[in-house]
Amino acid sequence: MCGCLHREVFTGATLSPAEGKKKVPASEEAGYSTARCVAFAVARVFRPGDFTAMQSRGDRLMKSIVVVGAQWGDEGKGKVVDYLAGSFDYIARCAGGHNAGHTVIYDGNRFVLQLIPCGILRPGKHAVIGSGVVVDPVALAAELDTLAKSGIDVTGRLHLSNRAHLIFPYHRQMEKAAEAARGAWKIGTTSRGIGPAYEDKMARHGIRVGDLLNPERFREKLERVIAEKDAVCRATYGVPLDTAGMAEQYLELGERLRPLISDVSVLINHALDAGRSVLFEGAQGTMLDIDFGTYPYVTSSNAISGGVCTGLGVGPTRIDAVAGVTKAYTTRVGSGPFPTEMPDLEATEVRDRGKEYGAVTGRPRRCGWLDLVVLQYAIRINGISSLVVTKLDVFDTQKEIQVCIGYHYKGTPLREMPAAAEDLAEVTPEYATLPGWQSVTYGVQDAAKLPRLAVAYLKFISDFLGVEVGMISTGPDRDATIVCAATQLATWI
Ligand code: GDP
Ligand code: IMO
Ligand code: MG
Repeated sequence: MCGCLHREVFTGATLSPAEGKKKVPASEEAGYSTARCVAFAVARVFRPGDFTAMQSRGDRLMKSIVVVGAQWGDEGKGKVVDYLAGSFDYIARCAGGHNAGHTVIYDGNRFVLQLIPCGILRPGKHAVIGSGVVVDPVALAAELDTLAKSGIDVTGRLHLSNRAHLIFPYHRQMEKAAEAARGAWKIGTTSRGIGPAYEDKMARHGIRVGDLLNPERFREKLERVIAEKDAVCRATYGVPLDTAGMAEQYLELGERLRPLISDVSVLINHALDAGRSVLFEGAQGTMLDIDFGTYPYVTSSNAISGGVCTGLGVGPTRIDAVAGVTKAYTTRVGSGPFPTEMPDLEATEVRDRGKEYGAVTGRPRRCGWLDLVVLQYAIRINGISSLVVTKLDVFDTQKEIQVCIGYHYKGTPLREMPAAAEDLAEVTPEYATLPGWQSVTYGVQDAAKLPRLAVAYLKFISDFLGVEVGMISTGPDRDATIVCAATQLATWI
């Protein structure tokens, strides 16, 4: 039954961009006047009884769900995870570090979480930081202080992997030096020491969270690493490492973190065995993934859904479904190719309306049109079965909306995402132009209240990609959310 359903749902995914354009005419009169709402559009592929098949694998409810960024990060994962977290027992991060900034707004409170999963904001929920995360204990302690000041008690609810690697001040120092040395080729990193910490992990001289619990072992490892780093730093960048007081500071923080530290792979797997539900909170986005992103303009970890397995010790057979989060348009921070980037004037308008400034660094985000080639790629790489579209309201005053439906490279259509950033930088996007709705979606909580043309925009995306739109976000607040009826996503809540 499930296979049958997927065949129907995914019919559109096999269309070439040109076929997709033909199938879904870009004129309102021709294509959209009959559109009612995305939920109805999706519901048409279901038959009675299909829900049973979708909800369960064997006798088990689908309760192990990954939320992944489908673009270049900052898609609104924080808001989406916070919303869904109300229906899950555990919320777990598997990759990245405090380069992430996940914004959650509810009841007049605004939180930007960097390392701690957003689920911590929901009373009684467990938040887990996995082995694939790189942890700066100073940043983690600061985040804990902020939560405590807001009256959020994490006791017994926050769990930190003993296998997660530590970020040290020398990682930041080396990153800054490396970025400066790259000049025009710089990546535009967040300067949090993320890349160098992952480098050490892969080079097999990283120091892990668990090491903090054994002071003698920790000092011995740190001494060895510092001697090596100092020599490299002096030889490469002509500066010594500043390590005064570092060991004592880290050991002190280790004592503070001691009650949180455990083998979280055991924790999560036991939770799943006991029938508990787990929401995996992605960080960064597909196009920033170290393997599948726009290398080298990427982060240093696996931001895709597969990162859950390696970064939390959870087997692929334990994951039920993947939700991909996308803005109604596209943004990226830092350097690298961005085919649908808007010209300055339009980008400034969207940036102002969408408040597109980095949650962590405050840097202005680059803005562009929605890129369905990127989303098609993200759906394949991550196995996305439901899309969440955020920031629909940012287009409320937009007269016309462009959507990229294909790339051309040196005059010929490209069928797949190019592997080389240099090639992606040279593609010419092919656009469909859709009419804007020019009315208010901001804060709308009911699909039936969305303007007809806003529904048509979402339906265009869903039809082109062959994947349901399961949730729509119409504002930064927790309540400004629509869960589309009769979708797979609706069954998770
Ligand atoms: P994340 O890194 O994917 O969690 O996203 P960020 O929190 O870095 O950036 C998303 C920004 O958009 C935050 O400021 C959110 O409060 C805001 N946001 C999320 N959803 C919506 C939405 O539907 N409409 C508007 N206007 N803002 C939103
Ligand atoms: P969230 O989870 C957007 C980008 C940086 C830079 C590149 C490498 O909030 O979506 P790094 O410091 O990771 O070595 O920087 O990756 N980047 C992000 N962009 N959102 C993020 O996280 C990001 N995390 C890293 O801007 O271009
Ligand atoms: Mg962010």
